Amino acid sequence: MVTKHDIAAAANTLRQGGLVAFPTETVYGLGACALDAVAVAGIFELKGRPRFDPLIVHISDAEQLTELVRSVPPLAMELIDKFWPGPLSLVLEKRRCVPDIVTAGLPSVAVRCPQHDVARQLIRAAGVPVAAPSANRFGMVSPTAAAHVIEQFGDLLPIVLDDGPCRIGVESTVVSFVDSPGERPALLRPGGVTLEQIEDVIGKIETRTHEDSRPTSPGQLSRHYSPATPLVLSGDTLQNYLLDGKSAVGLLSFRRPQSSDGFSAIEVLSEQGSLREAAVNLFAAMRRLDSLGLDLIVVRPVPEVELGRAIMDRLRRAAAR
Ligand code: TXA
Ligand code: MG
Repeated sequence: MVTKHDIAAAANTLRQGGLVAFPTETVYGLGACALDAVAVAGIFELKGRPRFDPLIVHISDAEQLTELVRSVPPLAMELIDKFWPGPLSLVLEKRRCVPDIVTAGLPSVAVRCPQHDVARQLIRAAGVPVAAPSANRFGMVSPTAAAHVIEQFGDLLPIVLDDGPCRIGVESTVVSFVDSPGERPALLRPGGVTLEQIEDVIGKIETRTHEDSRPTSPGQLSRHYSPATPLVLSGDTLQNYLLDGKSAVGLLSFRRPQSSDGFSAIEVLSEQGSLREAAVNLFAAMRRLDSLGLDLIVVRPVPEVELGRAIMDRLRRAAAR
């Protein structure tokens, strides 16, 4: 879908300090040259993102990592060998070349080597690391298709590389190798590489995904990934909501429910009950329900294992008031 010509033009824009949206295997990203503080400021402006939220820097090859970080601990190396390129971001001590605006003033930087061909070709052609958050306005649902990006930004963002829907559908897993007591790595955000997969490789890690500390990261802000329609995460029957004076209620369900009586609209995340398929469909299904002018979206919890951890994390934040 995306031609060499499109990628070359987008890479040129990045080199000249402009912004481009591009596909990754997780969600679409809004990229700028990570070494250009003014270009990166453009990301915060376009997204309406507070400056205290650090960005992930994307590289095309693992070898580029040492240009950005001071050292790579052995356990981080093991994760890189196993999961890069892929949906895993590592937080490591940054080098001086990474501007403060990228890391929101933190001494660490999150780096990821995406697996998506177009993303890697773009970064290679640009010849610079690319800072990129998800390509949505701050706090809103992440884009898993080019159309979602265009819907949000329209003419404000002229270059959107379109390579169809994202293969994974939830953001990368963020693992930190800084400030953890006892030097154990910590999970900051569950995502496309599961906690189970990580612990299979490096053993037990700490999890720090809730707001037990100051939000050093947008994924840790309680309200995030939110549609405009109020959303509740609950197993309650529809009756409870109708009594509440709510008339048009939509249902977001993992599998097809036994009875759909009374719901104005239903989105099923996976007929087969596959968490992988549910992750792929999650954000697009939230968007479709959000576009219907409903009074409420009721979401049923999914099993909180493997990719279900990332799904439940996003659903809790979408439901937070
Ligand atoms: O899959 C993804 O990660 C997508 C695609 C585009 O690569 N990007 C993405 O970026 O989700 P964003 O900005 O929506 O989320 C950035 C996450 C935050 O949740 C934050 O926890 C973490 O990265 N982060 C970035 N720098 C950090 C740092 N220095 N310390 C701790 N967390 C950091
Ligand atoms: Mg985001």
